[in-house]
Amino acid sequence: MTRWTDMTGAARGAEYASRFAELEAKGTDVHGEAQLCASLVPAGAWVLDAGCGTGRVAQWLHRNGYECVGVDLDEEMLAEARRAAPEIRWIQADLAALDLAGLGLAGAVDLVVCAGNVIPLVAAGTEATVVTSLAGALRPGGLLVAGFGLDAAHLPLDEATVTLADYDAWCADAGLSLRQRFATWDGDPYDGGGYAVSVHRR
Ligand SMILES: C[S@@+](CC[C@H](N)C(=O)[O-])C[C@H]1O[C@@H](n2cnc3c(N)ncnc32)[C@H](O)[C@@H]1O
Repeated sequence: MTRWTDMTGAARGAEYASRFAELEAKGTDVHGEAQLCASLVPAGAWVLDAGCGTGRVAQWLHRNGYECVGVDLDEEMLAEARRAAPEIRWIQADLAALDLAGLGLAGAVDLVVCAGNVIPLVAAGTEATVVTSLAGALRPGGLLVAGFGLDAAHLPLDEATVTLADYDAWCADAGLSLRQRFATWDGDPYDGGGYAVSVHRR
């Protein structure tokens, strides 16, 4: 069971989607993750939204000219994505057991994005496998962009589950090197704080 399922139990898709819809209606910019991705690769690029949930990142990118595919294990979250954007390919799968070749994703993708604490929320002990799988989806030169909390204040968990040192080591083992690290999805420089957005390159 992923830490996400453990944490949320049932009935999370509609609630998650409406929380972001409310924020957007109040004028909050909820598209920082997608906009950072758009600053890294040009329109027309292939993007894998890994742990896409309700698909908000892929949907924005799709509206702005990107080719997107979303993967998530949680069918309730995916149901919201499918309802909102049936034209996008949404795949129910475990990121720790992705059949990249079977899905046509092996070495095919320009950018993989993990927004919303996906890496700390996968099942304990599967993180390195997930990173290896995501790296396998990238074409040479492709980018893995992942933002997540490094302490309880920046996570929906009681304690951090992933350090940057761990994450960088999993990436290195998967053939990825660190290109940039930000403190926010707005691109502020990383200052050692409790949240980081890391950009690794294959
Ligand atoms: C906090 S939500 C973020 C959703 C979306 N990326 C966003 O930013 O709105 C975390 C998502 O990661 C997904 N997830 C966690 N572990 C996963 C795994 N092993 N395989 C696929 N999805 C996973 C959960 O199902 C959940 O939808």
